Amino acid sequence: MDDAIPDDIDDTAEPDPLGRLTLDRLRRRTSVKWRRYAEDVLPLWVAEMDVPLAEPVARALTEAVAAGDTGYAYGTGYAEALAAFAQERWGFDLAVERTLLVPDVMLGAVELLKRVTGPGDAVVVNSPVYRPFYAFATHLGRRVVEAPLGTGWRLDPERLAEVFREVTAGGGRAALLLCSPHNPTGTVHTAEELTAVAALADRYGVRVIADEIHAPLTARGVRFTPYLSVPGAGTGFSLMSASKAWNLAGAKAALAVAGPEAGHELAAVPEEVGHGVSHLGVLAHTAAFREGGAWLDAVRGGLDRNRLLLGRLLAERLPEVRYRPAEGTYLAWLDCRALGLGDDPAAVFLDRGRVALSSGPEFGTGGAGHARLNLATSPELLTEAVHRMAAAL
Ligand SMILES: Cc1ncc(COP(=O)(O)O)c(C=O)c1O
Repeated sequence: MDDAIPDDIDDTAEPDPLGRLTLDRLRRRTSVKWRRYAEDVLPLWVAEMDVPLAEPVARALTEAVAAGDTGYAYGTGYAEALAAFAQERWGFDLAVERTLLVPDVMLGAVELLKRVTGPGDAVVVNSPVYRPFYAFATHLGRRVVEAPLGTGWRLDPERLAEVFREVTAGGGRAALLLCSPHNPTGTVHTAEELTAVAALADRYGVRVIADEIHAPLTARGVRFTPYLSVPGAGTGFSLMSASKAWNLAGAKAALAVAGPEAGHELAAVPEEVGHGVSHLGVLAHTAAFREGGAWLDAVRGGLDRNRLLLGRLLAERLPEVRYRPAEGTYLAWLDCRALGLGDDPAAVFLDRGRVALSSGPEFGTGGAGHARLNLATSPELLTEAVHRMAAAL
């Protein structure tokens, strides 16, 4: 936790959104988190949050519905709201003229990969990592090459250099799909680490696409560094969205941002990509970045408490599980190898404990014996989940 900024969370203005919904109300939701598994399963898997919508977001959507403002998306309001947020929170000068509305982060990643790589070229990922990185790159006809995270789930520059050398040896193009902050480990890469990545990318001619969807969700005292803010990142891209931090996966919209030397490539993305952008999504995301700061801080305060609570619960009930509170995201990466449950402990917790976590092996190399738990729920449900996990043994 370099660059400590200890008092950056003011979570006094709003009640903690994580404690506000009962299990009964959550079970009435129709999204995948609450519907994939049977009624007796407690779901702490996919990255949805158990929160009511932030009031400014709900208001923006309600007003649009009341006005019948449900046409096509237009304009730079979302980018301007994000730029103001980036300036206030991270001191980052985001260039609105080098942004593009995209339907969501993963489709944005696909469009950028199309610009900077060709069929059969390598897409480097830092495993264990968000599973769709593999699926989307493969579906696009790219070859996924792993450069696993190193000690303490941090980026490993030596490994990255080796892989960059390998994948560019034949003269082919290559990209790094960087998860920053990192899903599933919650690692928040430091400015020094990102600067090292930019230098390596420059040396080997690898193009960096930084998925920064979890950026607003840092823990107290942890600073998020936008990839495009580090020296040498000018040919890179970032993908940003309010989707994770304000629970807006169902109101799709995201922004691709190009570094100063990559603006022409972003401008070359065909117009039809914008046809997939939801106008209601844009309105919701804009309101989140523009007016959702107090709500975000209340969530961040609640997540800080949940990270500590999870540590205490595991120490009491499942002391063999290795867990370290993450620097960001609402994900907890649990090393369950000492429990002797095999490669996929989540399967055992589901089967015998009736609690759904995400399976470690799905995140690629480094995921075996691990499970990912979604902390964005009430302290009561988090407690119940750990009791169920312990009962499964
Ligand atoms: C790292 C990461 N990228 C992308 C996504 C998906 O974002 P979108 O729905 O905007 O494609 C998620 C969702 O959990 C994620 O964790």
